[in-house]
Amino acid sequence: MAEQSGTMESSFANDNIRAERERMNELIRQKMLVELPAASARLGDRGIDPRPIIATDYEGNAMSVAQFYLMLRAYSVTEKAGQEPTYKAARVAIVSDLSPRVRDAAFVALNQQSAEEAGHGDKVFGAAYYEMGGIAPALLTEDQLNSGGDFLEPVADPAINTQKVLDLMAVLGGVETLALERAFPIVLDACARWSHPLAAQLIDQVNHNVKPEEARHVLTWRYLFHQGVVPRGEEAIERYFMLTNWGRDRFLAPRMERREFERHMKASCPTAEQLIGRPLPVSI
Ligand SMILES: [Fe+2]
Repeated sequence: MAEQSGTMESSFANDNIRAERERMNELIRQKMLVELPAASARLGDRGIDPRPIIATDYEGNAMSVAQFYLMLRAYSVTEKAGQEPTYKAARVAIVSDLSPRVRDAAFVALNQQSAEEAGHGDKVFGAAYYEMGGIAPALLTEDQLNSGGDFLEPVADPAINTQKVLDLMAVLGGVETLALERAFPIVLDACARWSHPLAAQLIDQVNHNVKPEEARHVLTWRYLFHQGVVPRGEEAIERYFMLTNWGRDRFLAPRMERREFERHMKASCPTAEQLIGRPLPVSI
């Protein structure tokens, strides 16, 4: 289907994404409830008291150390899930009809983002989860984060490849802004109230590695908007806005108002160097 339509429309067509995610999250919540005693025992084995209340979740419920531990599973798999689509999108970008300079910047930025998302998943949140007793958190079917099919396979028409890259970046922009606004503050708040050496380490890693990298991913969202979307006109802008909110709906986050979207975009277009974090051509 995606191949036939040539765009990611069929992948993002689900109008009921919020209802669907609420249903899936409830199933995950129930699974985690069942998992809680074993998780608490693992924490106990590591000399970590699972009981202290250290945070408030998205719904305003008190969160214990054990629940925070289970939340790290979700952070780890969600971050890791960003690896494959960005890796694929980088390769679609080089067979797009974006201008050569934008194509190069998109390739390097998305390829780098792929590595960084894997780093957040495996190196930061996955490592913390392991440190607390779990091993390499696995996806649950209810996470619905398995490979999204073939919509990021390049096609013969470079204009369609451009659309694929722009569509993906719009969704990612929604997710990245959400991560910065909501996901990381919860981790930082919890760690600030949890007296354990791991909490200090997580605060340091989130502040010094994860947040700056995600902030650069937001710059890529803005860069491709200016370079790829604006030249295509009002309809393309509307689509980018709509898919940004699809990304936020996917994680049941508050929608981004049009005014806020415009405020993000009104700031001047970032340079390619800003989104990559170092000058092009790339040197290690
Ligand atoms: Fe990330």
